[in-house]
Amino acid sequence: MNGPFRLLLPLSIAIVVVAAIFRATPGAPRRRLRRCVLLFASYAVAIAAEQLFAFLGSPFSSTSVPLGYAAQALEVLLIIDLAAIALFDLLFHFARWDYPDIVHELSVGAAYLVAGGYLMHRAGVNLTSIVATSAVVTAVIGLSLQATLGNVVGGLALQLDNSIREGDWIELENNVQGRVRQIRWRHSVIETRDWDTLIVPNSQLLAQTIKVLGKRDGANSPHRMWVFFSVDFRFQPGQVIHIVNEALQAAPIANVAPEPKAHCILHDLAKDHRDSFAYYAVRYWLTDLASDDPTNSLVRERIYAALKRAQIPLALPAATVFLSQDDPEHAERKRAREHGVRLGALQNVELFAQLSDEERSKLADVVRFAPFSAGEVITRQGSTAHWLYVLTKGQAEVRLTGAAGEEKRVAELSAPSFFGEMALMTGAPREATVIAVGDVECLRVDKDDFQEILARRPEIAKDMSTILAQRRVELVAVRDNLDADAKKRKMVTEGSKILESIRDFFGLR
Ligand code: CMP
Repeated sequence: MNGPFRLLLPLSIAIVVVAAIFRATPGAPRRRLRRCVLLFASYAVAIAAEQLFAFLGSPFSSTSVPLGYAAQALEVLLIIDLAAIALFDLLFHFARWDYPDIVHELSVGAAYLVAGGYLMHRAGVNLTSIVATSAVVTAVIGLSLQATLGNVVGGLALQLDNSIREGDWIELENNVQGRVRQIRWRHSVIETRDWDTLIVPNSQLLAQTIKVLGKRDGANSPHRMWVFFSVDFRFQPGQVIHIVNEALQAAPIANVAPEPKAHCILHDLAKDHRDSFAYYAVRYWLTDLASDDPTNSLVRERIYAALKRAQIPLALPAATVFLSQDDPEHAERKRAREHGVRLGALQNVELFAQLSDEERSKLADVVRFAPFSAGEVITRQGSTAHWLYVLTKGQAEVRLTGAAGEEKRVAELSAPSFFGEMALMTGAPREATVIAVGDVECLRVDKDDFQEILARRPEIAKDMSTILAQRRVELVAVRDNLDADAKKRKMVTEGSKILESIRDFFGLR
């Protein structure tokens, strides 16, 4: 540390090298380099001033001595900072050791203290007397800063024991949930889903029981959620649970973990022996803790559509007074109204255009209303067919799964349309999977009812065979990646082949 310019050159080289390494390493934490550069600038100024006053001679020599001490102190601080950067920001960064920030700050602070003591000792200061006098001052300061120190110690503990990390979702004792944004020396910053920010003193954070959401054994895991609904006692709990489970598990829902599977339980029979309905709960595991409400909503949509399809109404509040007109006229009016809705939907479907009014009315008597929510599987490739689907509202996507398990989009159907005819008309399993794009409403025609219509009206079977052949060719074209010419040729051969098989199946020859 001797010589007029001390360690100016080696330290400037060290800073340039460190800066170059930072520039070449994306993601390295470079915020501490700025402090080094500032220290270096002060150090250079102190040396320059010291040399200037020494040069000016004896009248200024009393100024050059303290400047020399200042330059020496700055030099030591700079060396400590550079060593800390090399160790923490470069070596540990490359070794991928994710140390808490506080370890860096504590190490640098301790090194500053030791270096300060050493420099004072070299300058002839009696450290023992300073320690003795400062004990009283320390006690006074300690008492007045008790709360702050509590928070600082809390911050230290939180950072060192890693029980809560930045990015964790936590629930405080007052049931407020939020994501830990930062753990600072004095307080922690927590962001809630309502876009509010909580500043919680660290001592308070440590003094309460904190729930770390979606974490087990220190690793992230989905968080269990509950969605409640009620159905009255006319419906068997087993049936309700089965229907809801099938709907929840048939197709993925955004942000719901595939495992453990979402499922329904009978949560309670009438609460307080008061209600006239049973309480059910769906439990699912949420993968993105930020979107709890939207995911709850998607799950409720699934439950609602599944129950509606099964004609199971949600329970009415217990306090409702049931006033129903059970007279035969009322029942007939209700039946006629529902029949009218179904008939209206059937009238829009070209497939049944050839049916007489009486035949269509009969069909409206036997079809069943079947709503689906977005993403639900309406029919699954390879399964046995029981229904023909008349799409009366919304859009559905036809998808094909190849031999290697890859999924391809075949077509999109928009209401009014129909699907599920292939398997019913050929007796083969479902050729493709049909999925609701948004909210979809269908009428289901039972296999026997449909086959009865075809037997009575062979011309419908014939018309359908053309559509069916077209769809089949599109399906094969997607499966085998056929070009336009090959598709056309296939259309000629496939059309007649399919017609043959339909006629065989229904004995229409
Ligand atoms: P099915 O095989 O019973 O079940 C899946 C249904 O997807 C199928 O009947 C058709 O109704 C429908 N489908 C298959 N391919 C197409 C296509 N290319 N265009 C429109 N609908 C199709």
